[in-house]
Amino acid sequence: MDSNSQAITVKNSTKRFGKLVVIDDVSFAVNKGEVFGFLGPNGAGKTTTIRMLTGILTPDSGNIRIHGLDITKDPIRAKMAMGVIPEAGNVYGDLTARQNLALTGKYYGLSKNTIFERAEELLTKLGLHERGNDLVRTFSKGMRQRVSIACAIVHEPKILFLDEPTEGLDVQSRRLIMGTVNRMNKQGCTIFLTTHNIEEANRFCEKICIINKGKIAAIDSPERLKSTFDKTQTIEVSFNQRIDKESLSDESIYSIEAFGDKLRLYTDNPDRAVKRLVALAQEQELEIISLITCGPSLEEAFVKLTGGEK
Ligand SMILES: Nc1ncnc2c1ncn2[C@@H]1O[C@H](COP(=O)(O)OP(=O)(O)O)[C@@H](O)[C@H]1O
Ligand SMILES: [Mg+2]
Repeated sequence: MDSNSQAITVKNSTKRFGKLVVIDDVSFAVNKGEVFGFLGPNGAGKTTTIRMLTGILTPDSGNIRIHGLDITKDPIRAKMAMGVIPEAGNVYGDLTARQNLALTGKYYGLSKNTIFERAEELLTKLGLHERGNDLVRTFSKGMRQRVSIACAIVHEPKILFLDEPTEGLDVQSRRLIMGTVNRMNKQGCTIFLTTHNIEEANRFCEKICIINKGKIAAIDSPERLKSTFDKTQTIEVSFNQRIDKESLSDESIYSIEAFGDKLRLYTDNPDRAVKRLVALAQEQELEIISLITCGPSLEEAFVKLTGGEK
């Protein structure tokens, strides 16, 4: 691959804490403009990787480049190109939202006017305009995280690093944050997103890297990961009344689970399974309230790759 098209290039990087090898000879590249998901269970090494990529931790060996700049040799220039939302958050509680933005903007060398314009725009887009002059320590977790993303993008970075940005947030904050991430990406910003939320990775990422115990288990598009590791299809159905699971037994359906008011059927032959459902509805004069077929799931691929249960 042409290295000019790469926003992030990681070669044979290793990080140890004492004797523990936390990142084990990892190599991967992220293309410019890509939404790259870094997915792994807790303790897999996601935060450690982000901290190496953003110049907070130095790898014990290997080479990391950000837009061609070596992060250990040229840290300032590399850092100017990036915005970071760290795992623990990085906003000052004793400053207001506007003061946080002003301070960050100043750190990146922006003019007063630019800071003012961008701060107002970001506060508005993130639903914080009215609270802009309140101390951040009076904010909810979701609001603090919105200040954090505003600060991370005030200098219009080329790459945005986000470490589990929506973990434990309310729906509104989650949407405002992921909406902002999407908007940044549409303007050409590369997105590096760590998450253990498989659905979020599936929805937002063009490419997913699955990391497990410090090693890369797979890198591919979500759809290819799914079809490689899982051939199972699921069907969700709900009828207007309860039915006996046994009455649905068919060789095309290899397991049935009840989920709330729905039944979830696992099959490798969705055509036959759906016909069986319709026939049953006719036989027993049931009304089908909803019927959804879903392809293989990323969750299944993830569990297989990270050696989880079953
Ligand atoms: N500063 C540190 N000192 C010692 N061990 C650490 C340190 N930071 C992380 N670890 C260990 O490294 C592993 C990976 O951690 P981390 O990168 O935070 O995982 P993740 O973000 O995927 O949950 C874990 O086993 C963790 O306990
Ligand atoms: Mg982490």
